[in-house]
Amino acid sequence: MEAYLGTCVGVTLKDDQAKLGGLIHILLPEPTGTDIPFEPAIYATTGLPLFIDKLCSAGASKDNLTACIAGGALVGKISEQDLWLDIGGRTTEAVENILREQGVWVDQIETGGLSAYRMALDLQTLETKIEPLLTPPEQIVETRFQLGKKDLADAIHNVKPIPQIALKIIRMLENENYDMDHVAQEIRKDQVISAKVLNFANSAIIGAGTSIDSIDRALIVLGERRLFQLIVSVTVEIFFSQNRARGYSLCKGGLFYHALATAMTAHEISVFTSRGQPDIAYTAGLLHDIGKIALDQYVMKDGPFFYRSLHKEGLELCKVERERFGLSHTEMGAMLAQKWDLPENLVDAIRYHHKPDFAAIDRQLVTIVYLADLLMASFKVGQQLTLPDSTYLQEALKELGLHPEQLTVVIDRIPRTVFDISMVHL
Ligand SMILES: [Fe+2]
Ligand SMILES: [Fe+2]
Repeated sequence: MEAYLGTCVGVTLKDDQAKLGGLIHILLPEPTGTDIPFEPAIYATTGLPLFIDKLCSAGASKDNLTACIAGGALVGKISEQDLWLDIGGRTTEAVENILREQGVWVDQIETGGLSAYRMALDLQTLETKIEPLLTPPEQIVETRFQLGKKDLADAIHNVKPIPQIALKIIRMLENENYDMDHVAQEIRKDQVISAKVLNFANSAIIGAGTSIDSIDRALIVLGERRLFQLIVSVTVEIFFSQNRARGYSLCKGGLFYHALATAMTAHEISVFTSRGQPDIAYTAGLLHDIGKIALDQYVMKDGPFFYRSLHKEGLELCKVERERFGLSHTEMGAMLAQKWDLPENLVDAIRYHHKPDFAAIDRQLVTIVYLADLLMASFKVGQQLTLPDSTYLQEALKELGLHPEQLTVVIDRIPRTVFDISMVHL
């Protein structure tokens, strides 16, 4: 059993005598009272007592239980000044309090800071291993790795664009005028996309609650807007799947999971704050990191140097990319988006999602994507190896009229399956 932990907190419990143990992956300190179905297991105050009860009813004895705790990383450096922003810290505190109340001895704690951890419980030996996701090598011989103009042109040229149907839908959403029958007809014509759309519509991530066997049925069950989101997500997944390198993420499909989670979060932020247009926020969230597809192969080659600059020297991601390759994934993404003729506000969101202050067209949209990206990077959805950058967090909250306390409510409104996919690994 294992868990990848950023802001989430992992707890293993074991009873050596009864030879029983388990691991729980906790998302938030306590329920926030949102209207989405209540799942007690993801909150410290409700999940941990349940976990203890379950182990005891399986034969463990509370007196013999010992625990290990990991994760609870800070959303950003800024959170040291503001308690409400330290979601991971509050979850850790809640976990420690409950274990103390229940009289469970804690063997090991690796929490806080900015790093992410992998926590694994060996079910044979009941041993818990906690290791940082990235330990930059101490001694490496550096060779500078800069991309020339031709490399960049090749990188852009070699990336296959997202399928046409997605570009059409994206433009339609922008103009708000479309003919649904025409769209449905186009999807039906493309067998690969329709099969993928149905597959996705029936997946746990969408959670439609009923079987969907045709595009027409999907339209009825999900409605136009969600069907559009689904189609665009599927085409973006096709786009992301051309990438075989894994420089940016530890798991297969990691960049896509991150994109999907950012899209869902951006949508929720837009709905919750009544800022921007939720569909456009979703699309911008899906597309924000497209530049990484073109750069990933170089990150992979540059590996240790890239991560040494990022983690040891604490430099911001775009700065490291610019230093090592000559341009950042945000600039590369904007070039791709312009090449595909995407609407200007999306190009803007792709270009400035790490610097919403610089937004030139739609500051609210860019800020929504920035915040969604930051939250999902903090929770390590998609097991990205890069660190979240919280430089603009306070300004972003102000721009969207969000109180830091409401961040946990936003997180609580995101479908749970998003956090489960962060557990998917090879
Ligand atoms: Fe990014
Ligand atoms: Fe991102």
